[in-house]
Amino acid sequence: MQQFHPLAATFFAKALDLSADEILPQLVRPPKPEMGDIGFPCFPLAKQMKCSPVEVAKNAASQLQAELAAEECFGEVKAVGPYLNVMISHKALVQATVLAVLEQPDSWGNTTGGQGKTLAIDYSHPNIAKPLAVHHIRSTMIGAALCRLYRACGWRVVGINHIGDWGTNFGQLMVSYKRASAENPEVPVDIDALLKLYIQYHADAEQDEAMESEARAWFKKLEDGDEEATRLWEIFVEESKKPLYGLYDRLGVTFESWTGESFFNDKMEATIGRIRDSDRLQKSEGAEVVDLEAWGMPACLVRKSDGATTYATRDLAAAEYRHDQYGFDKSLYVVGNQQELHFRQVFKVLELMGYDWAAKCEHVKFGMLSFGPGVIGEEAATGSTRKGNIVFLDEVLDRAVARAKEIILANAREEEVTASAEVLAEQVGVGAVMFSEFLQRRTKDVTFTWEKALNLQGDSGPYLQYTHARLSSVRRKYSHELPSEIDWERLASSLERDILVQLAGFPTAIELAVRENEPGVVATYLLELAAVFNRMFTDKANHRIVSEDEALSAARIGLVEAVRITLANGLGLLGLAAPERM
Ligand code: ARG
Repeated sequence: MQQFHPLAATFFAKALDLSADEILPQLVRPPKPEMGDIGFPCFPLAKQMKCSPVEVAKNAASQLQAELAAEECFGEVKAVGPYLNVMISHKALVQATVLAVLEQPDSWGNTTGGQGKTLAIDYSHPNIAKPLAVHHIRSTMIGAALCRLYRACGWRVVGINHIGDWGTNFGQLMVSYKRASAENPEVPVDIDALLKLYIQYHADAEQDEAMESEARAWFKKLEDGDEEATRLWEIFVEESKKPLYGLYDRLGVTFESWTGESFFNDKMEATIGRIRDSDRLQKSEGAEVVDLEAWGMPACLVRKSDGATTYATRDLAAAEYRHDQYGFDKSLYVVGNQQELHFRQVFKVLELMGYDWAAKCEHVKFGMLSFGPGVIGEEAATGSTRKGNIVFLDEVLDRAVARAKEIILANAREEEVTASAEVLAEQVGVGAVMFSEFLQRRTKDVTFTWEKALNLQGDSGPYLQYTHARLSSVRRKYSHELPSEIDWERLASSLERDILVQLAGFPTAIELAVRENEPGVVATYLLELAAVFNRMFTDKANHRIVSEDEALSAARIGLVEAVRITLANGLGLLGLAAPERM
């Protein structure tokens, strides 16, 4: 209802001793629909006026009664205890919902608040030479949803895949590779082989302490531009990118930039120079650091004693580069909770370097994802690459799709559904995995189970997809064009009003999701919309959608369309398909 707040504030100002600007931020939503749509708590004002808030609300309400006739937007005004409440008129509600949706279905929900602004968003960023593993799933899906949500609010979005294509793990891989190729000159280097080499390294290194320094030496060689190290690195990177493309395709994810960590190799020296210029660089046991003790953090290591740079150095260089290149208004990093300290350090160093734009950088954190028993193996799993019990995203998706197919075939009533089961299963299976990312606030840990993810009865992606398909089917069965003049006044029941009110909240849900960097806001919104609309189906006695009453049927089909379009747009923003049949 936020879109009505400015009007409500102006309206209330006519009877209160406050300006609309003062009223606006204080507006609330009454706890029950019958109390009104927008409320103003009169306590502070009453205190100022030294009388009871109930009195203030009552007087204002009766004064505003007289104004009501001249108001298009408000149908009723009343005092409910110490609150002054208004009810949006049916006409205004229809205008802001069904009419707006049907007029511009594709852009319904979009707003213009972000016009002229640029978002840089760092997400997915797998570590190369390892398959896309479990914690990268979350970053990929949350990041991709945020990209779409920001775009829907008018932002220019630069999605960046800051792949981990640099670091000591490449040294480890080289050691392991050299050992293996001493025995077999034809060691394979595809992604599966690279993973084996990586696991082998960690198993061997437990027995053999020398390996660690060997690995560090190889990484140093790589940093110094050694020919063999560079050649191996190139092969490793090339091979590990290959399977990523297919996966991103499957998820509908694209990036504007693939500047990974290695891209900053030749930029870090200058960055370190600028830290030195800001007088913040200190020597510490042969290494170079920025002391952060005053801010309760350990020092940020910029150069190790062997001369190698760090993950943090690369992030500092990357932040400067992004600012120069894109002139962002906001720069987000969609990375797990575990890296909280890292980002606090990096942002603080940027601030100490004198960059006021450091305040525009934000770590969008998320909790751990784990899998319930039966999803991957018999046991519950969190997946750690080092030990080799890694959970592959591909595999989770394939299993979800297989299960979705079983469910679809078991429930299919229409022939077309059976025929397109393959395509549908992909949409539903992938959708189930995606949506489970958004069901809880992102900072919480998530346990993925089949029961939750594929539950057609509620709180899942497939449930929303199913509701969408059901509404599509109602629309198909109606089989007429919608008349150009619909008598929306016929949507007169309190349930129909509840649906209209819920519809009106779609643009606000998107804006809130952007404000909080929380796609879950839209997920919750859609579940609420589906739930309130599904009451039409359960209350068939009073809410038959198509009946003898033609005018009523047309209005209700219009409502069905508006809800269907909202579900489709919302699912699309979260990265899910909206099937027509299911
Ligand atoms: N590749 C890193 C990891 O998997 C995440 C990179 C996050 N982005 C960044 N700019 N540091 O841990």
